[in-house]
Amino acid sequence: MKKIGVLTSGGDAPGMNAAIRAVVRKAIYHGLEVYGVKYGFQGLIDGNIEKMELGSVGDIIQRGGTKLYSARCEEFKTEEGQLKGIEQLKKHGIEGLIVIGGDGSFMGAKKLTEKGYPCIGVPGTIDNDIPGTDFTIGFDTALNTIIDAIDKIRDTATSHERTYVIEVMGRDAGDLALWAGLADGAESVLIPEAEDEFEDVIERLKRGHDRGKKHSIIIVAEGVGSGVDFGRKIKEAVNLETRVTVLGHTQRGGSPSASDRVLASRLGAHSVDLLLDGKAGRMVGIQQNKLVDHDIVEILSTKHEVDLDMYRLSKELSI
Ligand code: F6P
Repeated sequence: MKKIGVLTSGGDAPGMNAAIRAVVRKAIYHGLEVYGVKYGFQGLIDGNIEKMELGSVGDIIQRGGTKLYSARCEEFKTEEGQLKGIEQLKKHGIEGLIVIGGDGSFMGAKKLTEKGYPCIGVPGTIDNDIPGTDFTIGFDTALNTIIDAIDKIRDTATSHERTYVIEVMGRDAGDLALWAGLADGAESVLIPEAEDEFEDVIERLKRGHDRGKKHSIIIVAEGVGSGVDFGRKIKEAVNLETRVTVLGHTQRGGSPSASDRVLASRLGAHSVDLLLDGKAGRMVGIQQNKLVDHDIVEILSTKHEVDLDMYRLSKELSI
């Protein structure tokens, strides 16, 4: 293998730049040529491809977002779109592709691999919803962004003796909400993996209030429903002064944490090693701090599991 490509796809995540840097530098270290594909699979279809050098990835390890831009591409879900992408890969002589993104992006990587183009997936999403890896790139930074916001909200919640509902991202997964709840000592956490807990939230609020507790933080994962709706329902049920904050896309931005930079560097470099070993259709990951790789087909057919022991612990500690 002499030429490889790299792209970022789907929702951006802090640390994607560190992963791109690792891919480019590790590939050049091994004497390969590296091509950056801009705007994910859309850029692949459009031939938005350029050669990257050592300097192309200088000064990006600390930056959020993705230097290669990102997109969600409907056309690449079609056979026609995939064939257009392959034509571009052939035109540039690219023999293997590294895809940094979430499960939607891995579907594209799977299709290309099935059509004879070796791809390796690198898990990059703030949601931490990919099986086969303990952590995805961006999760730690997003979590710290949430913690920072909740710490600030708690100050005003205390001063005004209010109940705050905070909606966090995570798509269908509750990891961001759960970890934030534990890290911030939230009074309640609502996650999609443990639905129907609304009554318990109300019960806890009442109990706390009876004990003289005047403010509360309730974290709602977006996969459970709208924070605004929960805020209204809570106010109706307990008649406490309630405010809602939707953290939204602030969670996707910002300089990556040290953990994310290290994780991205390790996973990015490992993905190049796999291509050089002749592997295809694999996803790199980290489990118990060891680099691993799994069949992308298996990853796509496995459901991510949130740690329910942690969920129980969060309840025990916010009794
Ligand atoms: O997958 C990352 C994520 O930020 C999810 O948490 C969220 O549901 C979704 O992307 C938002 O997507 P968009 O940026 O297209 O609004």
